[in-house]
Amino acid sequence: MKIPPKGLPKEEIFKVLQSYKGHDLDWQSGKVLGFIYDAGEKAQEVTHEAYCMYLTENALDPLSFPSLLRLENEVVRMTANLLGCDNEVVGNFTSGGTESLILAVKTARDYSRAVKPHITEPELVLPITAHSSLFKACHYLGINPVVTRVHDDSFVADVDAMRKAITENTILLVASAPGYAHGVVDPVPEIAALALEKDLLCHVDACVGGIHLSYMRKLGYDVPDFGLNVPGVTSLSVDLHKYGYAAKGASIILHKNKELRKFQIWGCSRWTGYPVINAAITSAKSGGPMAAAWAVLNYMGNDGYMEIVKEVMEATQLMIDGVSRIDGLRVLGKPDMCMFALASTTDKINVYHLAEEMKKTGWYLQPQFARENSPSNLHLSLNRSTVPQANSFLKDFEATVEEIRNREVDQQTRDLQEELKKLSLKFDDETFFKLAEMAGVTGTEPPQRMDKVNMLLEALPYDISEYVLVEYLNNMMAAGS
Ligand SMILES: Cc1ncc(COP(=O)(O)O)c(C=O)c1O
Repeated sequence: MKIPPKGLPKEEIFKVLQSYKGHDLDWQSGKVLGFIYDAGEKAQEVTHEAYCMYLTENALDPLSFPSLLRLENEVVRMTANLLGCDNEVVGNFTSGGTESLILAVKTARDYSRAVKPHITEPELVLPITAHSSLFKACHYLGINPVVTRVHDDSFVADVDAMRKAITENTILLVASAPGYAHGVVDPVPEIAALALEKDLLCHVDACVGGIHLSYMRKLGYDVPDFGLNVPGVTSLSVDLHKYGYAAKGASIILHKNKELRKFQIWGCSRWTGYPVINAAITSAKSGGPMAAAWAVLNYMGNDGYMEIVKEVMEATQLMIDGVSRIDGLRVLGKPDMCMFALASTTDKINVYHLAEEMKKTGWYLQPQFARENSPSNLHLSLNRSTVPQANSFLKDFEATVEEIRNREVDQQTRDLQEELKKLSLKFDDETFFKLAEMAGVTGTEPPQRMDKVNMLLEALPYDISEYVLVEYLNNMMAAGS
C-alpha cells in the first residue's frame, strides 16, 4: 500500500471509502446496541455542518481563535447548569470520556503531590464496575488501582469495602453514574461523604449518564443524586458524544472550583518553540467537535432532549420487560437509565452464542465477561434510533433464544477453558499463536465468530487475557507490504 503517485479523482476516493464501510456495523438500522448515539437525521445535519465549519480551526490556541474559547466556555456552562452546578464550578472540553477521566486522575495526583507530599505511591479506590479508562488512567499516571467489590444483586459499589480499601496512600475515590456494564448508579452521596470524612478527592464518572439522567430527573423519574452539588464530590466527567448526541470527540471535565482545576492544566515554556498551555491532554485539535457539540445542544434544547429521553426510556422498559419474561434470562441489577445487561440463569442458554446469532438478524449486543460476582452477560445501550425497533428486537430476540436454547458448548472449548484457567505467566508468543489458532483467530482479518473467542478469553486469568488482547491488536495491525 503506497500513496498513489498521482492524486485520484474525488469520485473514486469516495467510492472506495464507501466500499470499505461494507463490513461495518449498520448503525443507521437502529439495531446497534452499543457504540452509537444517533438523534436522527436533522440533528446529524446540524452536527455535520457545524463540525465542517470548524474543521480546520485549531483549538490549540484559544487566543488566536477566540471563538473556540467562547464555544468551550458556553458548552461547559450549559452542561454545568444542566447538572445543577454552582457558579464556582469550572470545566473544560475534552476529546471523550477517557481523556476526561485521565485528567480527573491527573488532577488528583498533582493535588496530592502538592498538599500531601508524603504520598509517594498513590492509590485510587474504585469499584470493579468503574470504567476501564480509569484503569488506563492509573496505568498512564503511575497510580495503583485498588479495586473493591460491588453488591451481589444490585451491582452498586459496596461502600464498606471502599472504606476498608482506603490507606494512607489513597488520593481519590471513584463512583459511577451509572457504571457502563450494568447501567446502575453507585451510592454517590455515601461515597462522597466517605471521601470528605477521610479528606480525599472524589470523582463521579457520569460520562455515559450525566446528560440522560439530568433529563430523566426533569421528566420526574426518580434519579439518585450524583452531581457536584453532592457534598464531597470534587470532580465529574460527562460526555456530550454519548447521550448529548454530539459528534464523537466531545466530553466535559468539571471541577468543584478553580483551585482544584489548576492541577489539571499544563504549561511549558522551557523548549525552543512557542509557549504552550493546555487545559486538556491533546494539543493541536480541530475545532469541529466543540462547534458540533455547541450546535447540537442549541439545536436540541431542553424540549428536544426531554422528548428523546422519554421515548428512549419507554423503549428501554419495553425491552427490559420483554427480556425478563423469557425463561432462563435475567436483567442484572435495577438499571437506572437506558442501558442494561442480561445474563443467563441456566446453562442451557449461552449468552455468547446468543450475541453471535443475533448478528444474523442485524442486531449487535455487546458481550461482557464474568468478573467477580458479575456473570457472563450481554450489554445493551439504547439510543433514539433504537426506539422504533424495540418491538422487532423482542421478536428477533425471543426467536433467537429458542434457536440457541440447549445448544451445547463444544467439548473442545470446554476442555480448553479448564486448561486456560490454570495458565500462569510465562505466556509467550508461541503460546499466543497456538491459542489464537485454536480459537479460530488467524491472519489480520477480524474473526468470523466471536463466541468461542469470548469464552476462551473469559476463562484466562486477567493478566494473561490482557496480554493476549495486546498481542492480538499488535498482530492485527501488522507491519505489511
Ligand atoms: C461510564 C463511562 N466512563 C467512561 C467511558 C469512556 O468514554 P470514551 O469511550 O468516550 O472515552 C465510557 C464509555 O462508554 C463510560 O460508559
